[in-house]
Amino acid sequence: MTASLPTALVTGASRGIGRAIALRLANSHEILAVARSTTELDTLASEIDARGGRCRPIALDVTDGDAVARTLGGQAVDVLVNNAGVGALKPFLELAPEEWRRMVDVNLNALYHVTRAVLPGMVERGRGDVVNIGSIAGRSAFVGGSCYAATKWAVMAFTESLMLEVRDAGVRVSVVMPGSVATHFGSGQAKDWNLLPEDVAESVAHIVAAPPEVLIHRLEVRALSPKRPRRR
Ligand SMILES: NC(=O)c1ccc[n+]([C@@H]2O[C@H](COP(=O)([O-])OP(=O)(O)OC[C@H]3O[C@@H](n4cnc5c(N)ncnc54)[C@H](OP(=O)(O)O)[C@@H]3O)[C@@H](O)[C@H]2O)c1
Repeated sequence: MTASLPTALVTGASRGIGRAIALRLANSHEILAVARSTTELDTLASEIDARGGRCRPIALDVTDGDAVARTLGGQAVDVLVNNAGVGALKPFLELAPEEWRRMVDVNLNALYHVTRAVLPGMVERGRGDVVNIGSIAGRSAFVGGSCYAATKWAVMAFTESLMLEVRDAGVRVSVVMPGSVATHFGSGQAKDWNLLPEDVAESVAHIVAAPPEVLIHRLEVRALSPKRPRRR
């Protein structure tokens, strides 16, 4: 590895999809791994280090706008992956105000904090990738998704609007919309047909590796069929 690796900042890197994205991008990037769980981040950093890569763990609550601006503002970031997300998937009448607020804070408001901190540097340098992790719930409704799906629809609108704003400055803005992925997300149990976190990571790597003048703006990634258990 050389000192001139591009930098990729991944939020929600302590587990699940974000962890897989950090590991995948570490093949070609120095990783800034953001989440609240320090032990998990340290384990990730050791794993990347053992593979010959570089990873700097950053313990940070992405909903704390001041802390995000203080910690991430001015960092030279080539690739930002806004992945951190939470889901309380339950009928609207059972949704507590705190659950609603937390989903909006993590899934939507944090996109403002983190993107606002690193985007100016990308615009200044005339290049960069912002990859947001949306969801198929960002274009289709489901029972129990009144807030979660709403936040992911918002991610779609944020992504497309931002893309239109900064494309001429050389910054590519994309969204990956996975179907169900085998993680500890929400309260649901992973199914044997679910996507793996590594599948989503591969899509992110594909977007980032596109030729500089090409923008892969939106990728919807599904398991082939819920009737076909995945061969592992
Ligand atoms: N799993 C699915 O079926 C699925 C499908 C489509 C889309 N997605 C999306 O994929 C993304 C990742 O989900 P996942 O399945 O990997 O979930 P996960 O396994 O529960 O991981 C969520 C990650 O978000 C981080 N996070 C949560 N709140 C945070 C906060 N306030 N500050 C910083 N980090 C925070 C967590 O880290 P700490 O707790 O350590 O802070 C963790 O690393 C989410 O945006 C989700 O909406 C998931």
